[in-house]
Formats: sequence, C-alpha cells, structure tokens
Amino acid sequence: MRKPVIAGNWKLFKTIGESVALVQELTPLVAKNKDIEIIVAPVFTALSRVCDAIEGSNIKLAAQDCYWEEEGAFTGEVAPKLLKDAGCSHVIIGHSERRQYFGETDLTVNKKAKAAIAAGLNVIVCVGESLAERESEQTFSVIETQIQGSLSGLAAEAFTHVVIAYEPVWAIGTGKTASDAQAQEVHGFIRRLIARLYSQSVADAVRILYGGSVKPDNVKGLMAQPDIDGALVGGASLKAESFAAIANF
Ligand code: 13P
Repeated sequence: MRKPVIAGNWKLFKTIGESVALVQELTPLVAKNKDIEIIVAPVFTALSRVCDAIEGSNIKLAAQDCYWEEEGAFTGEVAPKLLKDAGCSHVIIGHSERRQYFGETDLTVNKKAKAAIAAGLNVIVCVGESLAERESEQTFSVIETQIQGSLSGLAAEAFTHVVIAYEPVWAIGTGKTASDAQAQEVHGFIRRLIARLYSQSVADAVRILYGGSVKPDNVKGLMAQPDIDGALVGGASLKAESFAAIANF
C-alpha cells in the first residue's frame, strides 16, 4: 500500500511570520490525519522557523530547490545538507517554474536528486508537459524524456526516497485541472515506465502526485484514481482551511 502524500508548495509567498502563522493554524486542522503524509514547502528563509513551529506535529518540511554541491564557492546556492540542518525531510526538485525561468534541465534535476538523496533527503521530482506539447501529442514522449533524464542512474534502493510529481504546466495556477481521466492516463504511463526502467516492485511502491489547480472540490476525484497517490498543491496550500480540506479529503 502506498501512503498518500499531500504537499503544499508555497512558492514565493509569505514572510517568516506569515509562514509560522499558517502552520500554526494548519496543525490542529490536520492533527488527527494519520493516514496521509502532509508536507509544506515554504521559502528558504522561513524553513528553520517553520521547522520549530511544526515540532511534534504530523507535518513535514520541504524546501523548494537545492544545489548539488555540498559546499564551496557557489554564491546564492543552498546545499542539501543545509536543508537537513534547517529541518527539512524533503526537497522539491525540477518544478516547472524552475525549468521555465531558471534554466533547470533534466541533467541538473538529476544531479540535484542524487545529491539530495545522498544527504538523506527525500526528493519530490517534478515533470510535466506544456500546453503546446500536449496539443501536438507529445505528452508521453516529453514525460518519458523527463523521467528518464531526471532519475537516470538512481539505484533501485534510492527509490524509497523518491516521490514523483506530475504537473501539467497548463494546469498550474490556471484553475484548469487535468480531468481525473487525463491525470490517471499520465500517472499510469509513468508507473509503467518506472516498471520498465527499474522494476515492477519499484513501480508499485513509488508515490506519484498530481499537481495543477488542485482544490478541495476536485481532490477526491483525483485521489480515487488508481495511480494517483497524492497532490502537490500551490495556490490552495496558502490558506490553512483549504489545504486542510485537501489533506483531509
Ligand atoms: P497551483 O495549485 O497553484 O496550480 O500550483 C500547482 C503547483 O505548481 C504546485 O507545485
């Protein structure tokens, strides 16, 4: 059985004070929810304080990116071990916004994923096609290339630390969710691909999250799909009430 994951990607929103207030409001709303792995991903500057605020709760902490080197002359970067130091158990890697605006490629995603896992973090590796790619029927080839490149060279054992997030770019922040069937089609494809590239047992165990305009009113239908194991939530994770409603679906 795969334990579902509901993760909130706060993107570039919220001060330290606002982040702490949000988790303080969220904690009692999800306290009884032991069946779901609940994760929040604040901005770097808020990580350590949010870590203190969620101590003893069932909420886990993720960063939104990391670098692949441990230390050195890499101005502006943050190493995986420093994320551990700040209290993170997870890190999101290869979000489409990083691929789109910050030059992230499958190669850099791969280096980051390996470094993060080696440092003891769990990785949430994101993939997803653009609208143009979907409309030109390239969805499956794009996803295959991204999965192969991003996860290349990972040992089967490392997969216990990997969560995959399928986020169609056209559904992010647009209010346009993939239909349950559209999402399931790609999730099923990803699971079969992992079986082919690694093994059936790796494929059976890996959690695949859907992301893109997930809201309290569409989460149930998505979660009812056999290959959807959770959600990576943007906008609706910025309010305790809506994120809790999603986590408690
Ligand atoms: P929205 O839920 O705001 O569409 O964002 C999805 C996302 O990018 C999560 O990583």
